[in-house]
Amino acid sequence: MARHLITSALPYINGIKHLGNMAGSMLPADVYARYLRQRGHEVLYICATDEHGTPAELAARAAGLPVAEFCARQHEAQRAVYDGFGLRFDHFGRTSSARNTEMTQHFARRLKERGFIEERATRQVYSPADGRFLPDRYIAGTCPYCGYEAARGDQCENCTRVLEPTGLLDARSAISGSTDLEVRETTHLFLLQSRLEKEVAAFVEEAGARWPALASSIAGKWLTEGLLDRAITRDLEWGVPVPADVWPELAAEGKVFYVWFDAPIGYIGATREWADAAGGGEERDWRSWWYASEGTVRYTEFMGKDNVPFHTVMFPATELGTGEPWKKVDQVKAFNWLTYYGGKFSTSRNRGVFGDAAIELLPADYWRYFLTAAAPESDDAAFSWELFASVVNKDLADTLGNFVNRVLTFSRRRFGDEVPGGHAAGDAERRLGGEMARLLAAYEEQLDALQFRKAAFALRALWSAGNAYLDEKAPWQEIRTDPDAAALTLRTAMNLIRLYAVVSAPVIPFTAEALAGVFASGTGAGADSPASAGSWVTAEEAGALDAIRPGTPFTVPPVLFTKIGDDDVAAYRERFGDGGA
Ligand code: MF3
Ligand code: ZN
Repeated sequence: MARHLITSALPYINGIKHLGNMAGSMLPADVYARYLRQRGHEVLYICATDEHGTPAELAARAAGLPVAEFCARQHEAQRAVYDGFGLRFDHFGRTSSARNTEMTQHFARRLKERGFIEERATRQVYSPADGRFLPDRYIAGTCPYCGYEAARGDQCENCTRVLEPTGLLDARSAISGSTDLEVRETTHLFLLQSRLEKEVAAFVEEAGARWPALASSIAGKWLTEGLLDRAITRDLEWGVPVPADVWPELAAEGKVFYVWFDAPIGYIGATREWADAAGGGEERDWRSWWYASEGTVRYTEFMGKDNVPFHTVMFPATELGTGEPWKKVDQVKAFNWLTYYGGKFSTSRNRGVFGDAAIELLPADYWRYFLTAAAPESDDAAFSWELFASVVNKDLADTLGNFVNRVLTFSRRRFGDEVPGGHAAGDAERRLGGEMARLLAAYEEQLDALQFRKAAFALRALWSAGNAYLDEKAPWQEIRTDPDAAALTLRTAMNLIRLYAVVSAPVIPFTAEALAGVFASGTGAGADSPASAGSWVTAEEAGALDAIRPGTPFTVPPVLFTKIGDDDVAAYRERFGDGGA
């Protein structure tokens, strides 16, 4: 048994996330966490909303709410969607929590003591009409590179270049629209990453050798370009305040830390929230996960590829700079983009499916399976309703759902409500058992390797092998000449259903519960739930196919998956857009 710390990139607070966000961080992290729990490992899966920075302040303003209120509501709204998707975080925290403030200030203090933070005079855009500085997205203007007129102070959405607020043409305040802007000098804290470069490079060289190519190549590129010192404070209302005991003037000016400084520390902050949530004045042991835990905890991070530099280079730099033994990432699983018909998901342009709409439309397992099978791993992947429907119909409805339904309804009709006895297992069952053991090992290998697409295919192969067995034995023929032979086939097939309940649970947990319920007959979930710790099967158990004994009562569940028809596809395209095709 090992201890696994798992985090998925913290979703920004502004707005419900779309399918692409889920596919590239939270969903695979949940699949992996569920799998490891079933295998009996100790798992801590942490997530939180990323609440600071200009996007939160601007979205709150647009919603006409005080920013704290806006964030509290959005946090609950996101939580509800993730619940609906079956994401089983050990804790879903908030970067605006008191614990994260405490941790962020601690990191800043340590970095300052060790000479890695310094104050520097900077030139910032100031708006007299608004009576404030305009950091990052608070300033809009024309991109000096491509001429795009709605570029933001930190980045041009059109050409994706990173910009300096002072470099925008025809700059205006994003709050008041005022063009009466001036440049004022003000002091900010800088993290001296250049002084940490050697240490970070050594870390990336060592740890990065085990990362998948997508992560290690991006990390390598950032290091080759050299680590630059960067400003880690901003003039904003909403953020972790600069601690007054260390920097009294900056604190008095109301400076807060830059969102990308406090967000990754939020993984630790949220773990402390989890520790506090033990209740009864007790605190769970958060330290053994994060502090001096190198070698005893395996830490896996999930994220989209744009997040890689922050997680492989900058967060490790922050951790290393403290000189304290903070747990650093072991495995970085990065994803490419899931597109919507080849383009971007966009709320404003009504393009694509967002989390809340998705689970209102269809059960979570349809999405979980599709997004795992079509995970944007080796390249960007496109969502289309046509592809989604074909995967759901073929893999879930035809292969898994139909198998379960065929076996159970036929057996009930011929043998009643209990698992039939019949002949002892023969050659066909031994061959099937051998194949199940082999396919299970292949599936485990892909999950262990964080290869989600391949894992979904391996899972489907387990389902397909059941169908092949059933077609080969044809119990609807056997019943005519040798009812005991038909009984053996059905009994074996029911054992496959029980096996599917266990091995499908990481990807389609709701269906897995329904499958386990087939044989639960009133005992309820609990110890029998495929989601329970240590519920995984060994190769021998998978090959034996005899856990469900003759005489066990069973029930036929309602149809597991409903097919998505052409008319549904047409309606979804109409409602959610289809990329203008
Ligand atoms: N909110 C960021 C994004 O959506 C991710 C933050 S990950 C963290 O891109 F580690 F910094 F929290
Ligand atoms: Zn541009």
